[in-house]
Amino acid sequence: MHFYEHLQTELTRIKTDNLYRDFKVLSSKPEAYVEYKGNKVLQMSSNNYLGLAGDLRITEAVIKAVEKYGMGSTGSRLISGTHKLHIELEEKLAELKETQKAIVFSTGYAANIGAISALLTEKDAVYSDELNHASIIDGIKLAGTNKFIYKHCDTQDLERLLEENHKKYRFNVIITDSVFSMDGDIAPLKEIVNLKEKYNAVLFLDEAHAFGIYGEKGQGLAHELELNHKIDIQMGTLSKAAGSEGGYICGKSELIDYLKNKSRSFIFSTAPSIPAIAASIKAVEIIGNDYDLRKRLWKNIKYFKTGLNKIVITSDGNKTVERGNLFGQQSQIDCHVGASRLLAMTNEAPKSAIFCIKFDDIEKTLQISQELLEKHHIMASCIRPPTVKTPRIRLCTMALHTKQDLDYVLEKLSLFHN
Ligand SMILES: Cc1ncc(COP(=O)(O)O)c(C=O)c1O
Repeated sequence: MHFYEHLQTELTRIKTDNLYRDFKVLSSKPEAYVEYKGNKVLQMSSNNYLGLAGDLRITEAVIKAVEKYGMGSTGSRLISGTHKLHIELEEKLAELKETQKAIVFSTGYAANIGAISALLTEKDAVYSDELNHASIIDGIKLAGTNKFIYKHCDTQDLERLLEENHKKYRFNVIITDSVFSMDGDIAPLKEIVNLKEKYNAVLFLDEAHAFGIYGEKGQGLAHELELNHKIDIQMGTLSKAAGSEGGYICGKSELIDYLKNKSRSFIFSTAPSIPAIAASIKAVEIIGNDYDLRKRLWKNIKYFKTGLNKIVITSDGNKTVERGNLFGQQSQIDCHVGASRLLAMTNEAPKSAIFCIKFDDIEKTLQISQELLEKHHIMASCIRPPTVKTPRIRLCTMALHTKQDLDYVLEKLSLFHN
């Protein structure tokens, strides 16, 4: 078969399966309402949890930095690309995260693949949650290490795998997201830390969707649970709550110096640009000091969760997943409460800014997402395989939303109820 014929056949198959994806092009600032096809649309799909992506304080800091230092970093970090702003950002991150050092990559994806592939070899083993982010999965593939995938948030399964295998390998590394990006639930971190200690393992925590949101100063879930000193490798991204772009790893000096010398996505890639770094510096400063923003986000998370509970039909008491027939078919609103253990600890229902409504039918999920967008002007993304196994509408609350915004979404969601 001709090469392009093959591509066309594959594209046709993807389209037939309702899996073809394309851009939704926006033409405004990243605020609560964005412009899409000439319409003002309520943004419920953004990872801009604190609204920092369009924050004026950051815009001003970026303009000043660009005027003074220009745009491009002009080289990789170890050749000519390290500007004093890179160092300032790394120092600020290490200070906020209370670690000895930090290292910044151009994206969170680069941080995960770069760190995992540098740290693990065929002599080692990784124990990875089955719903970990693609960048972790790809990092593991690249490392060529021995891998054991444990059932989602299932510490019994993790312990079974550690028990069976830990003696065979030089290092045993447990890797988990702290907040799972497509489900919004939370890793049972306390139990994972206990297992790390019991089996003398290393713990790698991806705080991509937790940075800026948990912890007194927004450091992440590990700080919220006062477990940060037990996490060996604290990874996060500057592209979500921080509203900029870039990824980081925080930890002990040996870890960071090792990554600086061994991580290929760090070494063989141009250093992040001046505007991205200047934005991140300001964002880290705001995250550490602006308690109000976080409060607003949490108020919205709680309000939205309560509203969703009202339109989801049955709640089976202690169970963490509520089931109903919202949207006229079997659906689940996970509302990120998969973390039953954490719930038990805090006795508090809403646990992340990510809410998902799952369906067993891709076409129906797509249709609902499209109707929300075209008819009701709500951007509520449809997440489909291969990103996830079960299709879903993924909704994110932001500090920028007002009560009226959330009420509007709840009202429109309830229209699908039968
Ligand atoms: C859990 C998790 N880790 C890592 C990443 C990658 O971060 P970035 O978008 O900064 O490349 C993401 C992004 O979606 C994520 O959700």
